[in-house]
Amino acid sequence: MSFDLVMFGATGDLAWRKLMPALFQAFRHGTLPEGGRIIGVARDELSDEQFRALICSRFDNVELPKRPSAEEFTRFAALLEFVRMDLSKPDDYALLAASLAKRQAHTVVMYVATAPALFTTVCEQLASAGLNTPRTRVVLEKPLGHDLASNRAINETVRRVFGEKQVFRIDHYLGKPAVQNLFALRFGNSLFEPLWRREHIANIQITIAEDLGVEKRGAFYETTGALRDMVQNHALQLLCAIGMEPPINAHADAIRDEKLKVLRSLKPWTAEALTQDVIRGQYAAGTISGTPVAAYREETGVSPQSPTETFVALRTEISNWRWAGVPFYIRTGKRLAGRDARIVVNFRPTPHAIFNSQIDVANRLVINLQPKDGLELHLLAQGQTNRQGTQASSQTLVPVQLDLDFDKRFGSERVGAYERLLLDVIDGRLNLFVRSDEQEEAWRWVEPILEHWKNDMQGPRLYAAGTWGPSASSAMIARDGFCWAEET
Ligand code: BG6
Repeated sequence: MSFDLVMFGATGDLAWRKLMPALFQAFRHGTLPEGGRIIGVARDELSDEQFRALICSRFDNVELPKRPSAEEFTRFAALLEFVRMDLSKPDDYALLAASLAKRQAHTVVMYVATAPALFTTVCEQLASAGLNTPRTRVVLEKPLGHDLASNRAINETVRRVFGEKQVFRIDHYLGKPAVQNLFALRFGNSLFEPLWRREHIANIQITIAEDLGVEKRGAFYETTGALRDMVQNHALQLLCAIGMEPPINAHADAIRDEKLKVLRSLKPWTAEALTQDVIRGQYAAGTISGTPVAAYREETGVSPQSPTETFVALRTEISNWRWAGVPFYIRTGKRLAGRDARIVVNFRPTPHAIFNSQIDVANRLVINLQPKDGLELHLLAQGQTNRQGTQASSQTLVPVQLDLDFDKRFGSERVGAYERLLLDVIDGRLNLFVRSDEQEEAWRWVEPILEHWKNDMQGPRLYAAGTWGPSASSAMIARDGFCWAEET
């Protein structure tokens, strides 16, 4: 099955940090279909050879085990071609058309890894140049808009050109092995389903913590912030995967219908909830792994008075029969205490205590997304009994845990998020991509928060880099009688 993958923005950050390394891994693993071409498109004046040399040099920044040897790169480079284009100039699309006309690939993937402002132009120009055929698929990277109206405008333009089945909206969190494992855990096993509901679950916590700051993306981040960058997409997709009903089959629309229902069931915001249940923060100077780091407001491209949030913690509920009354907490931020993404499912305590447990913890399932990928089931067990022990000591429970490390178990077979998603696009599998209605619903839900912040003069609460964010985030969850998992 031959494919042509056209990468718009081929000299940009995303292309060399994520896309090229992922394509190379697929090539190395032998999963990239044979007979493929990767056509880089950018404004730079580059020959094919110069483009190959540029990509080769960029691999120096990739972690060592994922770097190609000289021999591997020579074979991979044979797939790479370059077309110089100014995407705003209609005439330049003829150059791309000429390159694609050299052969009739079975599938043509248009990967739009450019600044979002160019998304609609590229789609419109592809149509005008006759480059949308039934063999064409288009991949759109986030951010798709900065609010509901702008997201709808993009979706409408895209819809005028492409059918929904041709459109692959990437949320790379859905490509993470741990998220696919979550689907497997829930819908491939019968063990948890009877427990997966309000009667047994006390609360669910979704944490996506990063220790990195905004790095070189200060200017972008200033107009984005953590709510748009992480909550509207990644965190809500995780919430859907945890909260959705079992789909009727594993087809893309069956899965996406169920995720959409979750988004539609999210508790609407009230003025009171917006004040009490959403905490925004911004990192001040601090220490990460013993190294002092600067405040967000001192980062390049960031205003010294910036009101942009680098941290969000919020509480919501899914208003349906399964979940009514169960708090879902979401927390994400930059320059936090570590790189740690996980979902913690806290079960309710036993209804009646017969042991002298000094431990105030109930069962807990932890789904680790990164840096490690695995599952932990926290249980209570009878600890070592003291031979001369009293009745009391023999009845004291201790926490134990079942620990499944998927990296160890599946090691070398693991496929990275972008590698998985790129292969799915080439194969035409839409399961792990986001439909326009899901995306719009997610924007509709975050919009009241954005509106509220516009008028809230208090601004974000400062937190020291290297901590878990503002203390208000712990206070928010403590109001329900709970605490964040790391505080237990
Ligand atoms: C991106 C955000 O979507 O996800 C970045 O724009 C963030 O700000 C990144 O750092 C996190 O992804 P990952 O896979 O490293 O957790």
